[in-house]
Parts: sequence; C-alpha cells; structure tokens
Amino acid sequence: MSQHAISPRIARAPGRVNLIGDHTDYTGGLVFPMAVDRWTDIRFTPHDRVELTSADETDPVSLPLQIDDPTVVSPTWGKYVAGVVSEMKPLRGITGTISTTIPIGGGMSSSHALEVAVALALGFAGTAVELAQLTQRAENLASGVPTGIMDQFVIAAGVAGHALLMDCGALTITPVPLPDGIDVVVQFIAHRTLVGSAYADRVAECAAAEREIGPLRNASATDTEAIVDAVVRRRAAHVVAENQRVLDFAQAMRGRDLRDAGRLMLASHVSLRDLYETSTPAMDSAVEHLASLPGVYGARMTGGGFGGCVVALADAGTLTDGWVVHAVDGAHIIEPD
Ligand code: GLA
Repeated sequence: MSQHAISPRIARAPGRVNLIGDHTDYTGGLVFPMAVDRWTDIRFTPHDRVELTSADETDPVSLPLQIDDPTVVSPTWGKYVAGVVSEMKPLRGITGTISTTIPIGGGMSSSHALEVAVALALGFAGTAVELAQLTQRAENLASGVPTGIMDQFVIAAGVAGHALLMDCGALTITPVPLPDGIDVVVQFIAHRTLVGSAYADRVAECAAAEREIGPLRNASATDTEAIVDAVVRRRAAHVVAENQRVLDFAQAMRGRDLRDAGRLMLASHVSLRDLYETSTPAMDSAVEHLASLPGVYGARMTGGGFGGCVVALADAGTLTDGWVVHAVDGAHIIEPD
C-alpha cells in the first residue's frame, strides 16, 4: 500500500477535570467530571505495525500488533500504547505523530487521553462504555496501578457544555449543563504519577472496608462507624459522604445554587485532605487562597491527588491565574478535508 496516497486522519481525545467526587469510582460510586478543551491528537495513517513519535518525547514507540507484556516496553510512554494494543489485538497498525495540549503527568488525564486516542486510531468500534473499559484495562496493565474508570469514561463520552453525573457502578452518565456566567478554572500545582503513590493503598483500604460492611456504594455513615480499623473507617467515611456530595452538587448546578456548589467543593477537599489523605500542603494552600478570593464559590483538589491540579468555580472573568476550561465532546476521529 502506498502511504503517500493516504491523507492522515486525526484521533482526538480530550483531557478531563473532575468537579467533585474523587476516590469513589473504584467502589462503583458517583463522580462529576467534564471533558475539557485540551487535547491529545494522533495524526495517523494505516501501517503494519504501531509506530508513533511524540512532540513531547525523545524516543519513538515501535510495536508489533501482538503484545504479550506491555510492562516490558520502552520508552515508558510506550507502555500505555502497548497496553491498548495488547487489550485490543487490532488487525491493522498505524504510523503517526502525537501532539498534546494536556500537561503531561499534571493530573488532567494525559495518559488516559493517549490510550483513548490510540484505541480510536487503531479502529476501535464499540460504545463509549466499551472504549472506557478497554482503555481502563490497558492503563491498569501498563501502569500496575488499579485506577478506576472515571477518566477514560468521561474522555470517551464527554458532552460539550456539560459535566457528567457518572455512576461508576451502573456505568451510566447523565449530562448536566454548566450554568452560564461561570468559569471552571484549573490551576496546576505539581507533576505527579500515581505509580508508586498511595493510590493502590487507598484501593486496598476501601476493599478492606467492603469486606466488613459490604459495598460502600450502599453504605450509610452509620455503617462506616462500625469499622474496627480507624484508618479504614476514615477512608470509608470519605467515600460514603463524597457520593452524597456528588448528588447534592449536581442538584446545586441544576438549580444554579453556586454558593451551595462551592460549599460542597470545599467540603470535598477537606474530606480528601483529612479523611482520605490524598492532598498535599501545596494543594491545600492553593485551595485556601482561591476560596478567599471574591467571585470564587469553591475550590478543591481534583483527580487522584498527591500533586496534579486544583479546580475552582468562579464568576466568569474573575480568576486570571490558571486555565479557564470549557466542557467539550468526547474523543472522536477527525477526517481529512
Ligand atoms: C485518578 C484515577 C481515577 C480516579 C481518580 C480519583 O484520576 O485514574 O480512576 O480514581 O484518580 O477520583
């Protein structure tokens, strides 16, 4: 086949920011993320292998279509590509170039966007839920971290102008329009990776809680008080309260009750800081500062924590320090002109 005759297509996957509901997805809980206007693009043509270069990486990735163990692939970013290839077992490969406006390792889901874009470029043809499930397995395999499905699901299923009330147990989404006149602002705090972080410990602590009191999704605050181990009890208390905060936040957004939405964001941050212990002093002071500014309704750490980003909800135009992000549609293929 002559490659020169084929115009490249673009597989485009957005980053994400989560407005509320963190560390709830891996117990089938509720989250409220949006896909945002920062993207990873793969400009590709068909090929018999998977050959990719990235504007942000020194070394290219070159892989066969048959991958047994993605964890031994180098360079490191190639593991995420290999994870998708090994889960998808594509019939054809691609050759292409990657560029991104998502900060890499910055807590806005750069690796998940890469995985979703790779799957689309390799010809994935299923539902958004199936795309999310496949790329979640790829991520877990490649990174060794048992992350949940929120990020890949919102990247696959984002709806412009809306955040998604997402049920990570039933795998359903309800788009909720973002109120007019409001900015969602993301501030980058620190690079981080969940590999080697306490993320996996938190997943294990939730599993321990569930062995004692059953699914956290169905548990009440009173149920969590019966948990014997004090650390596990605190983790479970966060998850149960955070699920309720997501529902209350969605209600506040629908009713344009921004004060209540902001109050819930701050309560979520305090819970992630004190009960779940996934915040950092730098994230705490950023949130405290943001919350003290006029026109800001609320702020919180967002995503996995241990670094990454904080997010704030503010009157449009009030915050100039950070990125104003807009909710966009999920990942898709852009055909050549
Ligand atoms: C990371 C994971 C998600 C989710 C968040 C915390 O972003 O990839 O699955 O667990 O942390 O809410």
